[in-house]
Amino acid sequence: MIPELSKPSVIMRDRQRVEEMIQSMHRAGPGGLQVISDFDMTLTRFAYNGQRCPTSHNILDNSKLISEDCKKSLKELLNKYYPIEIDSSRTVEEKLPHMVEWWTKAHNLLIQQKIRKDLLAQVVQESEAMLRDGYKEFFDHLRDLNVPLLIFSAGLGDVVEEVVRQKGLFHSNVRVFSNYMDFDENGILRAFKGQLIHTYNKREGALLNEAHFHELKDRHNVLLLGDSLGDLTMADGVQNVENVLKIGYLNDKVEERKESYLASYDIVLERDETMDLANAILRHVSGGQ
Ligand code: TMP
Ligand code: MG
Repeated sequence: MIPELSKPSVIMRDRQRVEEMIQSMHRAGPGGLQVISDFDMTLTRFAYNGQRCPTSHNILDNSKLISEDCKKSLKELLNKYYPIEIDSSRTVEEKLPHMVEWWTKAHNLLIQQKIRKDLLAQVVQESEAMLRDGYKEFFDHLRDLNVPLLIFSAGLGDVVEEVVRQKGLFHSNVRVFSNYMDFDENGILRAFKGQLIHTYNKREGALLNEAHFHELKDRHNVLLLGDSLGDLTMADGVQNVENVLKIGYLNDKVEERKESYLASYDIVLERDETMDLANAILRHVSGGQ
């Protein structure tokens, strides 16, 4: 049905169930579909030529807008909390307070840097941000099919938007839920807006944005893309859901985490830096449109 399902990087707990869901989504067509995707390490690459690629936080953290001292502090936070984020021996409940602590400390450090809004575009331009291979087909095809794409990110919304805008992909079907910066009248960062979104509270974030999901209430099929187990709850706000096909990128600590990913994602992409599978599913669901 979809040759890409047989790629060596594609693994599934129950292939038949996956094929049934895709067939059901195909029958409903693109008019019944919405896509919900994480950004960092899902739409963006995890690594390129053996080097890690930056998250939306890293794009800013590595930039000239951040002092050397602050870079050091942010790096220390990353070294302390990232291993907790991906630790398969801890439950989500155990991780929660650590994630809130990480995000709160990182945001506070950024606020101290008096970041200028007008320099963000340049920082993104000069960064090593990289989307996964096949990203253009993914964004453009969704636009052509009029399928809404929600990018749901615990990263920095202003940076995520800028990456997408600079690639010419911020089409009218794209919306971003994320942590947005609040600038003062001089364009200097003074706070973050709204409720904090971290890796493991996307469910709450989804439920807060009820209006968005209400608008899409006739789209009963969801293609969900993520790279963290926290991304599995991104579709919890969807109303009258029929199928949620969950595709998970397993980028890091592959052997250790494979079992838990296979248990919760319908399809696991092991060290796969492409959008090939999502693109193939979209082509199938749209019947070649
Ligand atoms: P997400 O991909 O689930 O939306 O989460 C964003 C990623 O950002 C998550 O994997 C951790 C990462 N991160 C940083 O790289 N630096 C930071 O300072 C913080 C708070 C998060
Ligand atoms: Mg991610």
